[in-house]
Amino acid sequence: MSAQPGEFPGGRRRSSASRSHHFRGSLGRFATGVAIVTFDGPSRRYGITVNSFTSVSLEPPLVLVSIARRTTAHDELAGRAFTVNILGAEQQALALHFAGRPGVEPQWVEGSVAPRLSRVLAYFECTPWAAYDGGDHTLYLGEVVDFDYRSGDALAFANGHFTTIPESQLGVEDLL
Ligand SMILES: Cc1cc2nc3c(=O)[nH]c(=O)nc-3n(C[C@H](O)[C@H](O)[C@H](O)COP(=O)(O)O)c2cc1C
Repeated sequence: MSAQPGEFPGGRRRSSASRSHHFRGSLGRFATGVAIVTFDGPSRRYGITVNSFTSVSLEPPLVLVSIARRTTAHDELAGRAFTVNILGAEQQALALHFAGRPGVEPQWVEGSVAPRLSRVLAYFECTPWAAYDGGDHTLYLGEVVDFDYRSGDALAFANGHFTTIPESQLGVEDLL
């Protein structure tokens, strides 16, 4: 008999901690890019590294990020304009900087509705569109009001590790 979800082969139940670890490991098999959400809060500027970025709609142009409730950025992001900065392969230190391991001096650019980071692979400046309950996260949707990209390899994240995606595997829009 095959194992049910949440069971080891043979039917033995996972402990809650083991199940959570296995869930995260399973999610980690989905390779993603890496982005930093930047915005101005009431008293300071915020940045938070995410890999939960998703394109949602072309008309209107909508994107989504999923932000954990336990982060300091979570409450401050509600109702605020933000930028999703897509990182290039050489920007891993920046990803760590905004994931609780400070170490570089970010170079900021004043965007039209929200601050963004200099020399990123692509960016999407957004005004707030909606926020939805996502369990221990909130799904923040933004309407894209400005965007751009440059050439270069992409920073990626898979199986809990940073990796890179060569530019030769990106840029399909050139084929359309
Ligand atoms: C590669 C990577 C991807 C991450 N993706 C997310 C994410 O999608 N959503 C999230 O809330 N946190 C994510 N995190 C964790 C946050 O970046 C981290 O908790 C950060 O320190 C929170 O900062 P704050 O509490 O100062 O707001 C990710 C971290 C890394 C390294």
